[in-house]
Amino acid sequence: MPSTGTNTSKLTVADHPLVQNLLTRLRDYQTPSSEFRERARQLSYFLCYEAMKELGVREVGVETPIGPAKGTALSDYVVFAPVLRAGLILAEAAQEVFPNARIYHIGLRRDEETLKAISYYAKLPEALPSESRVFVLDPMLATGGSACAAINLFHQLNVQTIHLISIVAAPEGVKRVHDQFPNVHITTAALDEHLNEHGYIVPGLGDAGDRIFGT
Ligand code: PRP
Ligand code: URA
Repeated sequence: MPSTGTNTSKLTVADHPLVQNLLTRLRDYQTPSSEFRERARQLSYFLCYEAMKELGVREVGVETPIGPAKGTALSDYVVFAPVLRAGLILAEAAQEVFPNARIYHIGLRRDEETLKAISYYAKLPEALPSESRVFVLDPMLATGGSACAAINLFHQLNVQTIHLISIVAAPEGVKRVHDQFPNVHITTAALDEHLNEHGYIVPGLGDAGDRIFGT
């Protein structure tokens, strides 16, 4: 694994064979959009599963056809923040596994010349419970500009627990996020080699938004 120079206890690379198999399908430039979307959604379930393993639960009782049993109910105030556009694919899976979460879409577009993230949409509440768990959803963590801009919106609302779920991360992006937000945990399917001169992740999977939705 390449060195990020940052806190690896706050970085989880999901190396499960099923995850890596799906990721390989996404990396393949010959994978058509229709399959790409489906594989990305399947991969997103696994990443959600990994990233949400510390969700709070409370004990509840439940009746099986045979008799009473002990069970649990999810108890955290959960927020999903998909970064448009590509984050929508992660949001679809996240919403299915946690239907009661609040969703706040974050519109960010990376300027291809400057590589700076430009905000075009963010409609957040004035306040969130400080114990909220926010999951920022963005498949590509490249320079980290988009992730930091999205995370910062929730940091400013004093949210203590912010998690970033990505599909592919570059060391440069991981470092930038952890330099600015040391407590943010990142879950990803891959920590790739580096960024190229155009700010694309190498080897990466190309332009995630274009591959999901078309150019
Ligand atoms: C892509 C990707 C991330 C961002 C990552 O979005 O989905 O949001 O780039 O790059 P960064 O880490 O250098 O900021 P893009 O701006 O291409 O928008 P799109 O998803 O609408 O295509
Ligand atoms: N955005 C993408 O979609 N892919 C990259 O490799 C970098 C930014």
